[in-house]
Amino acid sequence: MIAVFDSGYGGLTVLKPIMDILPDYDYVYLGDNARAPYGNHSPETIKLFSEQATDYLLGKGANLIIFACNTTSSVALRHIQQKYEKLLRGENKRILGVLIPAAQHVIKESKSGRIGVMGTKATINSKVYDEEIKKINASAKVFSKACPLLVPFIEEGWHKKPEAKSILKKYLNPLKNANIDTLILGCTHYPMMSSSISKIMGKNIKAVNSGEVAARSLKEYLERHTEIERQLSKNKGRRFLTTDNPKEFKKFAEQNLGMKIKMPEKILLS
Ligand code: DGL
Repeated sequence: MIAVFDSGYGGLTVLKPIMDILPDYDYVYLGDNARAPYGNHSPETIKLFSEQATDYLLGKGANLIIFACNTTSSVALRHIQQKYEKLLRGENKRILGVLIPAAQHVIKESKSGRIGVMGTKATINSKVYDEEIKKINASAKVFSKACPLLVPFIEEGWHKKPEAKSILKKYLNPLKNANIDTLILGCTHYPMMSSSISKIMGKNIKAVNSGEVAARSLKEYLERHTEIERQLSKNKGRRFLTTDNPKEFKKFAEQNLGMKIKMPEKILLS
């Protein structure tokens, strides 16, 4: 089974393109809504929460775990891959994130090598996007901007209001002035504001949706790694787990996935 883990609802923007491209597999989505948002937490806390979720999902038989959240992909993924390395290699299991596929994609897309990254405070402070982009192209110039107020606006359904747009403009101004030609939407939530982002940045700037890119990269990954693919069950199962309110989760998930889901199960991570 493929498990998709996120701090809350945002990872549904990653689950959807994954399920669209790879519909046959069994999926479990875990949203740690009770402790979201992760993006303002310290790296230690984000690592601890991600470890607890990983333990839980491996315990439930996940063969492949996708960290849909940019914050956990940048702050915790490397640490967790190292910590669980023996177990993962021994059992042909893997934990993957959304960040490296986005970095690889943006390098292909950018002509000038001037790349913008928007993300949560934790993602931007980690500088992992900068590192991964420069590993691929050392001469790339990365301009990053933490946008901590966008997630609460989006979760309140306020992202189309003028207040949200004016905050967005303020966040994007330095990136616009930096003459970037590509912009990574480095947070699960930002695709929900993509039309406002495009309007502010202008038509010539390509926005990279890290969820969609991660979905395409997962497909290629499974084609290359048949030893992992072979272990994945294919009964089109969809299970949803949340650490907070299942009814609220169901409503949000159905709106964002455009499909009916069974009542999510409430679980405790510790
Ligand atoms: N899922 C997070 C991310 O992609 C955004 C929400 C949060 O801060 O928990 O960075």
